[in-house]
Amino acid sequence: MSIIISPSILSADFGNLAKDIEMLNESEADWIHCDIMDGVFVPNLSFGLPVVKKVRELTKKPLDVHLMIIEPDKYLKSFREAGADILTVQYEACNHLNRTVAAIRDLGMKAGVALNPHTPVALLKNTLPFIDMVLIMSVNPGFGGQSFIADSLGKVAELGTMIDKGGYDIIIEVDGGVNLDNVKLLTDAGANALVAGNSVFNSDNPRKTIKMLKG
Ligand code: DX5
Ligand code: ZN
Repeated sequence: MSIIISPSILSADFGNLAKDIEMLNESEADWIHCDIMDGVFVPNLSFGLPVVKKVRELTKKPLDVHLMIIEPDKYLKSFREAGADILTVQYEACNHLNRTVAAIRDLGMKAGVALNPHTPVALLKNTLPFIDMVLIMSVNPGFGGQSFIADSLGKVAELGTMIDKGGYDIIIEVDGGVNLDNVKLLTDAGANALVAGNSVFNSDNPRKTIKMLKG
């Protein structure tokens, strides 16, 4: 299976979001990544439910929603109703992670868990049987356009070994600083889904960049 590309609309033009979604619809993008920030879990605010709902109306592509918020349990149902297909919570924001991912699946979504750069993949050993995706943060979350942290490659490989050993069917997604220079390193390490914000939306030809990222 070819790599899944999930452009992050954090870097889109919010004054003309419909136009950027149309570009994604016409592109080879597989998913659309929506970054939700609360100004508490991360030192930034982004957008919330009404924007996700609008994006849902504008595309048939799966919405890959990444919650960088505390107390995500309060909003799981609302994000489902807004149109999320894959809902990812941050490991560091969940006191009862396995309960949270079970609730995401019960609502009919795929469940993902994101790990900050400081969080070891080994901490997911007892959660892997219950999830569909792990998102390795390759920048400290909060902003688009940051530089890729190379240490993430080792985490991807280590996670791949854990997934293989357990015989799980889990997508490894990488998010932060992904571009045409590191895509091969990431796929070689075992990543099978890549988020890209800045490298897509700030390129001269976003559709072409998406095609090139897909390889
Ligand atoms: C960062 C977000 C990312 C971000 C990636 O906190 O989770 O999804 O949009 O943006 P780039 O690709 O610009 O690093
Ligand atoms: Zn993200």
